[in-house]
Amino acid sequence: MSKTIYILNGPNLNLLGKRQPEIYGKETLADVEASCAEVGKGFGLAVKLLQSNREGDLIDWIHEARDKAAGLIINPGAFTHTSIAILDALNAYDGPVLEVHISNVHKREAFRHHSYVSTRADGVLAGFGVEGYALAMRRMGSLVK
Ligand code: DQA
Repeated sequence: MSKTIYILNGPNLNLLGKRQPEIYGKETLADVEASCAEVGKGFGLAVKLLQSNREGDLIDWIHEARDKAAGLIINPGAFTHTSIAILDALNAYDGPVLEVHISNVHKREAFRHHSYVSTRADGVLAGFGVEGYALAMRRMGSLVK
């Protein structure tokens, strides 16, 4: 049975493709799931993409990942900059964690420059557009054996 990578997405990312396309592009989360599944296939990895606007859902999925996911790719959206609870959940997860931001958060407002999640993440991709997810998936291929 192939190992599964969870791809978790936080608030407002359900609107990907429609929301501020000048920043986040025109592709949707369905496009992200398809491109990550394609990359995963080359490594024998399956993907499960989830999105919620609620912090508690993301925390529950990180807990679930403890038994079910060989690695986590997470774009926590604005919770990146606020959520110690998501950080604590990630610290209770043993596998590799890659943090993805579609936009280059360091080029934007100062409040986006700090990430609680980065103190746990094994790698961070920011500013690669939605391609960042597929690049993170490629990296998972090296990290998950
Ligand atoms: C984001 C950057 C965050 O600052 C923002 O709140 C988001 C999306 C990104 O993918 O670029 O919702 O995580």
